[in-house]
Amino acid sequence: MAPLLQSPASSTKLCSLLLLTLAFLAAVDQSAAGIFDEIELIWGASRTYFFMDGDSEALALSLDKSQGSCFRSREKYLYVQIDVEIKLIEGDSAGTVCTVYTISEGPWEIHDEIDLEFLGNATGQPYTLHTNIFANGVGGREQQFRLWFDPTADYHTYSIVWNPNHILILVDGKAIRDFKNNEDKGVAFPTWQSMRTFGSLWSAEDWATQGGRIKTDWKQAPFVSSYRNYNVTWCRPSPGVAWCGDEPRDSARFDLDQKTLGDLQWVRDNSIIYDYCTDTVRFNASTLPKECTLQ
Ligand SMILES: *[C@@H]1O[C@H](CO)[C@@H](O)[C@H](O)[C@H]1NC(C)=O
Ligand SMILES: *[C@@H]1O[C@H](CO)[C@@H](O)[C@H](O)[C@H]1NC(C)=O
Ligand SMILES: *[C@@H]1O[C@H](CO)[C@@H](O)[C@H](O)[C@H]1NC(C)=O
Repeated sequence: MAPLLQSPASSTKLCSLLLLTLAFLAAVDQSAAGIFDEIELIWGASRTYFFMDGDSEALALSLDKSQGSCFRSREKYLYVQIDVEIKLIEGDSAGTVCTVYTISEGPWEIHDEIDLEFLGNATGQPYTLHTNIFANGVGGREQQFRLWFDPTADYHTYSIVWNPNHILILVDGKAIRDFKNNEDKGVAFPTWQSMRTFGSLWSAEDWATQGGRIKTDWKQAPFVSSYRNYNVTWCRPSPGVAWCGDEPRDSARFDLDQKTLGDLQWVRDNSIIYDYCTDTVRFNASTLPKECTLQ
C-alpha cells in the first residue's frame, strides 16, 4: 500500500491509483481466508496445533512450564478491522496471559500498539481483560474489564477496529473502549505505521493473577487457548477518495453511531474495573494524560 500514499501528480494517475486500490481490495476480500493462511507461528510451534473446529479453521496455542507460544499475521495492515474468536483456558488459568494485539515494526520509541490481554485466574474466579494503546511510543493507557460471560465456556469474538478517527475494541460486537484521534489537540494517534496482528499464550505468574499472589499450577499444564475465524476487513476508501484516511477532515464517516455510544456507556456502568484516566493515585491534575480531559 505504501506507493498509494505518495501524492499523485495528475488526475489520470489518481484515477489509476484508485482502480489499483479497488482491485487490491477486491483481491484481499476474496482471499478472506481463514487462520491457516493468514497467520504463522513464530514461537512455541512444536506444542501448538491447527485443527478444524466444525467448519472453522482453528489454532490451539499451548503453554507449559518450559515455553508458551505465539503467532502473527503474515500481512501488515493500515486501518483495518480484525475479528477473532477466542476460547480461553478452562479451569485453573492462574498466572497465564492469553493475548491478541496489533503492533508496528519500527523503532520501539515510536511504535504503535493495541493490546488485549486476558489475565487468567484460579478456578471459578473471573478473567480480567486488560487493554492498552500505544501511539508514537507512548502507552500507559491501561483499562481493564470484567467480562459479562464466562470466556472459557465457549468462543467469543474480540475485535480491534482501527480507522483514521478511532480505535475501538469490541467484545461480541459490543464496543468496550474508544481511543479517539486527537492529533489536532496534541495527542499522538497511529496513522502511518502499519501493524501486524499477534496472538500469544505465556506465563506471567509473578504479576498476572491477583497481583502475583496466585501462581500457576504447572501440574495442570499444558494450558490451551483456541483461536478461530480470524477475519480481516480492510478500511475501504470512501467514494471519490483514493485511500482510507484521505477523507476530508469534517467527514462524518467514522463518527461513532448511537449503538456504539450506548455500548460504551453500558460498559462504563457495568464492566470496567480499572481506567487510567480516573487513577488519582497515579496521576494528579498536572500529570493526567491529555486525552483523559478530551474524550
Ligand atoms: C481473579 O479473581 C479475583 C477474586 O475474584 C479478582 O479480584 C481478580 O480481579 C481476578 N483477576 C485477576 C487477574 O486477578
Ligand atoms: C468479517 O467481518 C466483516 C466486518 O465485520 C463481516 O462483514 C464479515 O461477514 C465477516 N466475515 C466472516 C467470514 O465472518
Ligand atoms: C503531580 O505529580 C507530580 C509527579 O508525581 C509531582 O511532581 C507534582 O508536584 C504533582 N503536582 C501537584 C499539583 O500535586
